[in-house]
Formats: sequence, structure tokens, C-alpha cells
Amino acid sequence: MSLCKRRGFVYQTSEIYGGINGFWDYGPLGTLLKRNLREAWIQDVVMNPCWGKVGPDGQPVSMVMVDTRIIQHPKVWKASGHVDGFNDPMVDCRETRGRYRYDHVQVFVPASGEAGDKPVFAYVGDQPSEKAQRKKAEKLFGEVKSVMLSALPQPWDRVIAPEAEKPGTLTEPRMFNLMFDTVPGAIRDEANKAYLRPETAQGIFVQAKNVWDTNRVRVPFGIAQTGPSFRNEVTPRNFTFRSREFEQMEIEFFVVPPEHLEGEEKTTADPIAWYKFFRDWRMAWWQSIGLGSENLILREHEKDELAHYSQATSDIEYRFPFTSPGFGELEGIAYRGNFDLTQHQKHSGTKMEFRDTARGDILPNGSRRGVAYIPHVIEPSAGLDRGVLALLCEAYTKDETRASPEFMKFHPRVAPIKAAVFPLMDKDGLPEVAQKLHAELKKRFGKLGMVEFDEKQNIGKRYARMDEAGCPFCFTIDADTLKDQTVTVRDRDTGTQQRMAIDKVAGFLGEKLGE
Ligand code: GAP
Repeated sequence: MSLCKRRGFVYQTSEIYGGINGFWDYGPLGTLLKRNLREAWIQDVVMNPCWGKVGPDGQPVSMVMVDTRIIQHPKVWKASGHVDGFNDPMVDCRETRGRYRYDHVQVFVPASGEAGDKPVFAYVGDQPSEKAQRKKAEKLFGEVKSVMLSALPQPWDRVIAPEAEKPGTLTEPRMFNLMFDTVPGAIRDEANKAYLRPETAQGIFVQAKNVWDTNRVRVPFGIAQTGPSFRNEVTPRNFTFRSREFEQMEIEFFVVPPEHLEGEEKTTADPIAWYKFFRDWRMAWWQSIGLGSENLILREHEKDELAHYSQATSDIEYRFPFTSPGFGELEGIAYRGNFDLTQHQKHSGTKMEFRDTARGDILPNGSRRGVAYIPHVIEPSAGLDRGVLALLCEAYTKDETRASPEFMKFHPRVAPIKAAVFPLMDKDGLPEVAQKLHAELKKRFGKLGMVEFDEKQNIGKRYARMDEAGCPFCFTIDADTLKDQTVTVRDRDTGTQQRMAIDKVAGFLGEKLGE
């Protein structure tokens, strides 16, 4: 976190006013890192879907993109289930005004289980109060153990809440909706209430019919979208991991319902085959942009973890330093059946059916009668800001032997700075040669990221600065360059240096950046 602040990756939002819990801004390097991750996703999901692989039906994967609004009609969230179901049960403390997730509150009780009428001490996860509460409990009971608050019968009049002085200040659990609300227009009343979207997915579902009616797409195909979502998380924490404003990168991939598949297709192109295809490709994708270590896992949900409408779900999880040895979700891939489109059909009264002219009975003229159905959906839903956090954690490397004891090993594709050019000394015409190379590289690679020029300080310090920013290659112009037209290229990860002809630099970099 301190490197992120010091080098301009991530800042606290409104920091000069003390920050605002659950909101983070990106500085110059972080903004580029995030842009590169989003661009890589758009490139590989929409422009060249799944790297040109064919889907389980043997056809190239088809994908289009939309850009829908943060504020949708409030009925969207009624239909999606977010108004009624997007809740966490919370308990409030009347004394400290603290609010805690019911299922996070634990209590220290005597190890013997016998508290009599003495107070017991509540704490929440890794909050600072945990140690203090344990101390107080140990003073009273000697050996203590912790149990969930829910294990104690209500009213909790002997429970001392985290940070509280008096017992009995916790309320019973109450539902707390995670959606932010707002009021568009001048009249601020309940009837005009709207919500900030808690996911980008519903914007895709409600426009799906417009997309297939006005574009030359046919099922199976996907609609992709990236953009901000908002959740009034009760306990935002772990740096940007759980934020109240964050960006998502979501795909809704529409497939033929199993009952409309015929013969061979039942096994090769059924929704489960598409689900497995996306699950495996999304995992390979995260690995391809630098999350290649054993910190990344794919976890298939157990049957009892599945939402009622889902037949299969898996999570791509990353071992963040603060979740370690556990893992935190980076992306979920879910087979959602036709739940969402059916809900919107029911609530809007608009038919959300796709007319598939390649199916149905064969007519005397050899063509098909066509069938109409509500497509099934495979949803790979990733967090963009969480992806950035995983890239930052994975890249962060400590090496006390180097001039920069901390450096960032970004994959060249996402690295904010792609290359740097240094004149070894500020004389003998070296800066002019370096500037020429810098201009050439900037022109060719500027669309991918920054190309830096640095002539200040000694060369070791310049390398160290670039290492911290995660710049994969530095090119140094020295006196020999003037004699034999070669430069030194230094590799960030190994620190090794080699000589290369100056006119080969752009080609070398192009290859390394996968241009
Ligand atoms: N449409 C499905 C959906 O939104 P989700 O699991 O709630 O599913 C998808 O969210 C992804 O969005 C998560 O895997 C995570 O990467 C990201 N995400 C969710 N809540 C977040 C939060 N509070 N802060 C940052 N990222 C979040």
C-alpha cells in the first residue's frame, strides 16, 4: 500500500479531507495499469473473442459490446431480485453507533462455557478490538474461546459490543440493503427513488432484445460490458478489495436452451459445454496477463453453494496477502439458466424471446420453420479493480540486494510504462540520440502505454525508479552508441544487460509487448 501511494498507483479518495471509507482513486501509474487491464479484456473478449478459439459448437465465438447507464428503471432491480434480496443482516451498537454484519460478530466466552451472569465480549474479525476484547475476557474467565454471536440466545443483554463500555447495546439483526439510492428529477419522494446499479449485468439483460433485434447476431453469442458498479458494503476493507464503488467486466453469453438442441449438439453445444469453455478460458486469460503463479485457483462451487437458478458456478480466486492462506474472488462464472431474462419478461411484459430461424421443423422447401425461445445464459463476471489489485499483489517483489529493494514485476502487456530511454550522461550528444530513440518508441508504442525519458540522477537510481514502476525494459545510450550504433537493454526481472543495435530496439520491444 505504501508503494502504491509513493509511486502513484492508488490514493485514498478525498485524502486531504480524511478519506471516505470504501472509495479509492488511481494515480498516474494506477490509471494506466487499470486501463491496460480493461483494454486487454476488451481486446480478448470482444475484438478477438477467446483468442480466436472456436466454441464447443465448432464455430468462432461471437461477441458484441454495450454501454448502459448506472441508473436504470427501478423496476429492473425489483425484477432482478436486488430490491428484495440484496441484503445483509446487520447488528447495530446503540452506544458506539458501530454497524456489523451479523455473521461476522463473534464473542469470547469462558472455555468452560460457564459465564454465569458475567458480561461476554464481542469482536468482529480482524478489527483492532479483537485483542482488547480477548484481554478483557481472559481477565474475567482465564481461558476463553470464541463463538458466533448467533450461538447466544437473544436478548444479548450481557454482550459487550466491540469498542463499547456497557453491555446490552447490540440490536437484533436487521436487513440492510446494499444498493445506493438516489432521486432523479426535482421531486424528492419515495415514488421517484432510483438506484445506482450494483452490477453491470442487468443493463445487458434489459437491452438483450434490442441487441438481437437490431444487429446481425444469433444465439450463441455474447454481450460484454465494462463499467462502474456501486454497493454500499457494510464493511469495506482490504485496500480496494471490497470497495463501495468499483468497476466490473461482465459477459452475458446467450446459448440455445437444452430442449431446443438436436442430436450431436446436445453434448457439444449444450449450456454446460459452454460453461466449461468459458470457465477454462477465463482462468487461462488471467494467467496470460501475469497471474501465472499458484496464487490463482479455479474453484468449482459445491451443489449446496449454488443459487437456486444456477446449475453450475465456479470462482476464479486469488490468494491476496490479506486473505492468505485463504483466497478472494476475482471472477465468478455462472450458468444462470434463463432466470434473468424470464424475470424481465415477467416484470416488463415484453417478450424476451430470440427467434432462431435455424431450428424447428424442416418445411417442404427445405428451410426451417424457426423457433422462439428465451436463451440460457453463461455469465463470466470479473472485477476490474479487483483484477488491478491482484496484478499489484502478484507483481510486488522484494529483493534487498537491488537498488530498489521493492519492484513490480508486471506482465509487459499490463505494465503502465512499457520502456524507458536514458542517456548515460548529459553531454557529448548522448541526450540527442536518446531523444530520437524515445520519440520513435513513443510514436510506435504510445497506444499501448508510456515510454519514459529520464536523464536525471545516476543510472542505478534511474533503473531503480523504473523497477518500482514495473517498467520491463530500459534502453541506455552511452559513448559506445556513438561509435557502433548499439545501446544497452536492461531486463527488469533479471537485471541483466545486453548490447543491441539501436535500429533493432523497436522490433525487439514490439516482440516483447506482443504487438
Ligand atoms: N453479475 C454478477 C455479479 O455481479 P458478483 O460476484 O457479485 O457477481 C462479480 O461480482 C465480481 O465483481 C466479483 O468477482 C468481484 O471481482 C467484483 N466485486 C464485487 N463486489 C465488489 C466490491 N465490493 N469491491 C470490488 N469488487 C467487487
